[in-house]
Amino acid sequence: MSAPLLETRGLGKNFGALVAARDINFRLEPGARHALIGPNGAGKTTFINLLTGVLLPTQGQVLFKQRDITALQQAARVKQGIARTFQINRLFRGLSVLENVYIAVAERLGVAGAMVKPAGMRNDVVEEAMRLLDVLKLSDNAGHRIAELPYGRQRLVELAIALGLEPEVLLLDEPAAGVPSAESHIILDAVAALPKHIGVLIIDHDMDLVFRFAERITVLVGGAIFAEGTPKEIGADPRVRDVYLGQAQHG
Ligand SMILES: Nc1ncnc2c1ncn2[C@@H]1O[C@H](COP(=O)(O)OP(=O)(O)OP(=O)(O)O)[C@@H](O)[C@H]1O
Ligand SMILES: [Mg+2]
Repeated sequence: MSAPLLETRGLGKNFGALVAARDINFRLEPGARHALIGPNGAGKTTFINLLTGVLLPTQGQVLFKQRDITALQQAARVKQGIARTFQINRLFRGLSVLENVYIAVAERLGVAGAMVKPAGMRNDVVEEAMRLLDVLKLSDNAGHRIAELPYGRQRLVELAIALGLEPEVLLLDEPAAGVPSAESHIILDAVAALPKHIGVLIIDHDMDLVFRFAERITVLVGGAIFAEGTPKEIGADPRVRDVYLGQAQHG
């Protein structure tokens, strides 16, 4: 087994008396296609919040490339190459699609202060942002303000922003949540087409998507790892069927 890109050791998080993460020992391999599944309230979002530094753990460690990043702030983790999308979207609604992606790229390059007005935009950054819009089939929306885009397209912009950070790890918390089913294929296609070198951890309740996308699946129940394996192993595990797959959505 290669060295993991992202790892947790004995990771725990309590909210008062509630244990939202319990002794989680987890490994995400470089270039992984890994899914995190489990019932509502299992602690999936909490786990991603611990990986990204939104929350600090009660116990245990988070390691990135074998370095302890447990105490690092969110922004420092993003700089190291850990990017995420949020379950609820956080875009600059009054700015255009291009401006939103521009800001992400400019921040990565350390030239974000330059955008005081559109005339202050740097060509190299604009070009890179446009390339990302092209990858996500958003070029036609470049000049549209976020507020005037359909929700599914807004979520694509979030993905473009995450890619603009040039991450090595991408954490996706229900990327198609709230997207009408007629549009959700755009998101799922974009997720399926993510650059191979990026290690992806996706949370989703759509088991068709999870079983198509993932090479490895971790099942979280009550804040703890309940099962982990290949999609074949997880799909055939009667315990997993009992606690989750029996009730999960299909399609
Ligand atoms: N900031 C918080 N303060 C207190 N309790 C919290 C907080 N965040 C989450 N919880 C609780 O921790 C548990 C795990 O929640 P979490 O959102 O991580 O679950 P989840 O697996 O992402 O669920 P879903 O599938 O519904 O998104 C839940 O009982 C939730 O109510
Ligand atoms: Mg969640």
